Amino acid sequence: MESIQSIKQRFEIIGQDPKLNRALEKAIQVAPTDISVLVTGESGVGKESIPKIIHSLSHRKHAKYIAVNCGAIPEGTIDSELFGHEKGAFTGATQTRSGYFEVADGGTIFLDEVGELPLTTQVRLLRVLENGEFLKVGSSQVQKTDVRIVAATNVNMFEAIKKEKFREDLYYRLSTVEINIPPLRDRQGDIHLLFRKFASDFGQKYKMPTIRLDENAIALLLKYRWPGNIRQLRNIAEQISVLEEGRAISGATLHGYLPNSQGSNLPAVVNGSKSESDFSNEREILYKVLFDMKGDLNDLKKLTMELLKNNDSQKVQEENENLIRKIYGEDDEEIETRDASSLNVLQLPEPTIEKPYVPTAQEDKYHFAEEIEEEETLSLQEKEIELIKKSLERNKGKRKAAASELGISERTLYRKIKQYDL
Ligand SMILES: Nc1ncnc2c1ncn2[C@@H]1O[C@H](COP(=O)(O)OP(=O)(O)OP(=O)(O)O)[C@@H](O)[C@H]1O
Ligand SMILES: [Mg+2]
Repeated sequence: MESIQSIKQRFEIIGQDPKLNRALEKAIQVAPTDISVLVTGESGVGKESIPKIIHSLSHRKHAKYIAVNCGAIPEGTIDSELFGHEKGAFTGATQTRSGYFEVADGGTIFLDEVGELPLTTQVRLLRVLENGEFLKVGSSQVQKTDVRIVAATNVNMFEAIKKEKFREDLYYRLSTVEINIPPLRDRQGDIHLLFRKFASDFGQKYKMPTIRLDENAIALLLKYRWPGNIRQLRNIAEQISVLEEGRAISGATLHGYLPNSQGSNLPAVVNGSKSESDFSNEREILYKVLFDMKGDLNDLKKLTMELLKNNDSQKVQEENENLIRKIYGEDDEEIETRDASSLNVLQLPEPTIEKPYVPTAQEDKYHFAEEIEEEETLSLQEKEIELIKKSLERNKGKRKAAASELGISERTLYRKIKQYDL
């Protein structure tokens, strides 16, 4: 029998918690049989690797493995997806089609989010589980299949049964063996281990040194409730790896990334301050990226105009040395000298028009495009003002902290405050 350790390696499962080990052990034990398995556990705990392990350790491993997300298929088509349909069974059924239960004959079907199955489909599923029989939609001819079912759910099945959303007989048929994956908060020993693994993966992915948590941050990591479990931990490791400049992460910084939702068992604020880099809203980050891009675009436009007007590229290079360095490689000093006006639409010289000017259809189109661009810039400016205001509010008017959060120098921030009269 393959060891838990080698399974973990093969399926990239991190963790040493005894409850996780028990779940994997159960999967290994049940794999060679044809017993139906129900994998339970909160969202993001890692249920999806269990059916893969079971399939790959079973005698079905060379046959098909089909994963079906029952929650993602519309109610009207799920029967046809699972069991197939006859030509003419419903409008649009122009051909006879095989369903997953026919295609996966001899293999395994993973029914993810099984609690979402409509009641009519549950009846069909019960029949397959009981004697391997099913009917295509629109057909009265019984077909046979030999499929092993592994199902998963993150909802409380007893509640669903009580509310008559799930058939009790089907539940017992599906859960001959139940494998429960514990929530991350109950796997204390694994939390930091997983974080370190993800941090190292993202460090490599984004070609940056790996972030490291200080003692306070580790304590916070262990205390947090992790309502989204490993999926959430992974996302947070990625966000911090990308957004934080420093690689040593303090408790306060980490706190800024942990949503203070009902899922948290933390007090609202730690150390009385929020992380400097807490962009509470992803949109804000996008706006910031847009401002930067807009600024670069205007700089490029300016440079192109200079080159067009002035045939001497050497001269243009000398005269625009700062601009060129800013676009093609800027250091802090150049960010310092970057003027807030770079966000404005560049004022191009007016064309000299001698006689009344009637634009051609083509020119009119461009003119229109320019107007749109101007409008976009205006609304971008509004967003920038909003961004600055929010950052100043968040940092209680402290310009240094706000500037660092916004990724600009204090001087630039000061200029913007004056420019926008904030
Ligand atoms: N032990 C683990 N080691 C490494 N990564 C893991 C581990 N468990 C889960 N993951 C990762 O966490 C993420 C979420 O896991 P998965 O998709 O299996 O969650 P789930 O339990 O199916 O959640 P849901 O109920 O929301 O579908 C995946 O990216 C998965 O690779
Ligand atoms: Mg899942």
